[in-house]
Amino acid sequence: MEAFSVVGGKPLNGTVTISGAKNAALPILFACLLCRDRCRIQNVPQLRDVASTFAVLQGLGVDCQHEAEAVIIHTPPTLATYEAPYELVRTMRASILALGPLLARFGQAVVSLPGGCAIGVRPVDIHADGLRQMGAEVEIKNGSLVANCQRLHGADITLPLPTVTGTENLLMAAVLAEGQTILRQAACEPEIVDLANFLIAAGANIQGAGTACITIEGTSTLTAADYTVMPDRIEAGTYLAAVAAVGGEVLLAGANPHDMERVLSAFAGGGVEICPLDTGIRVKMAGRFSGADAVTAAYPGFPTDMQAQLIAANCISSSPTAVSETVFENRFMHVQELLRMGADITLAEHTAFIRGVDHLTAAPVMATDLRASASLVIAALAAKGTSTINRIYHLDRGYERMEEKLSALGAEVERIDGH
Ligand code: UD1
Repeated sequence: MEAFSVVGGKPLNGTVTISGAKNAALPILFACLLCRDRCRIQNVPQLRDVASTFAVLQGLGVDCQHEAEAVIIHTPPTLATYEAPYELVRTMRASILALGPLLARFGQAVVSLPGGCAIGVRPVDIHADGLRQMGAEVEIKNGSLVANCQRLHGADITLPLPTVTGTENLLMAAVLAEGQTILRQAACEPEIVDLANFLIAAGANIQGAGTACITIEGTSTLTAADYTVMPDRIEAGTYLAAVAAVGGEVLLAGANPHDMERVLSAFAGGGVEICPLDTGIRVKMAGRFSGADAVTAAYPGFPTDMQAQLIAANCISSSPTAVSETVFENRFMHVQELLRMGADITLAEHTAFIRGVDHLTAAPVMATDLRASASLVIAALAAKGTSTINRIYHLDRGYERMEEKLSALGAEVERIDGH
């Protein structure tokens, strides 16, 4: 298995180009199932999760082609199968995003249940209940969600909590349902706005995406869209956290400051100079990061997908900090590995209490999930000596060419054979 070898202690300087957002690209690619004609999607990042999405789509019989700067997706009027099988779903939980579109357009879907993952239980009951309220029969058979319907009908649905992919699944289902659907207590993440904008470009009628109440007037057909995926706010935040930890001055080219307000204000509070520009965000850390407290929450709160990276930066901060996780129940797997690098962290229930140390020391560490892996890279960049981060296939799920991007900023990061 591949690993990263990281020689710590080098400040980061220069420009890093932020890729298209994974969490927007995945739902948009699945939303192409709803469209009759060829869709052209630009700024799709080259990631393992994107490759997994193509595998699910191609398994269904969807034509996926790469053009120079875009991917072209064409969903035929009938599919080879309506099933996303376990072999594919277990590599990527977001395969559940096939459920809403398959059901809305073809009246049938079988999507293997993804099961738990390293960061928590992660049920999909809210997805299933919402689709039932729109007239679908949804049951669990042999480890899969099996769903059938005639045409879905609109419904007034209050989500028990603002699940991101749950909101996306119901939004995608509602655009082809008969009549009006209202999604209340919907998730407000910018990626949902991006998905809605794609659907609108393909002919959907959606109001209120980005707020807790989304109203959708169903239509009988979506045609096609030529669409560019938004920049990845979590990738941008990860490079920001790296600069906070090791110092330097970096332009996060293409990052959108409006999507990242809570993250920017947290790091600014810890002493990072942040300058929003038309072309991105310039971030500069001179001296030592003084740390930032945070409590993760649904957007516009501090993203759970940035919690591990903030903790890594806090490990070398000049003041003690507390970071609480409220979205997922078991998202502190990185803490054990950070302790092995000399961090001083105490876990109490859902909060990590961090006392910054003068420096971390290099160690061989193990990546356990996507964002935990990013936090170990940040810690290794700040540590004295050479660290090995094993199992970086987690990192490749969500970060495009991270070793190249970091090396271009002056870091010493190499992809090697690990274990
Ligand atoms: C999405 C993101 C992920 C991010 C997460 C929270 C994608 C592909 N993934 O994941 O990167 O970490 O949002 O911002 O966009 N829940 C239920 N029942 C459900 C659905 C969710 O109880 O049916 C709970 C979950 O267990 C969790 C919380 O709701 O505690 C939020 O999860 P959710 O927003 O659904 O996360 P994902 O959409 O899976």
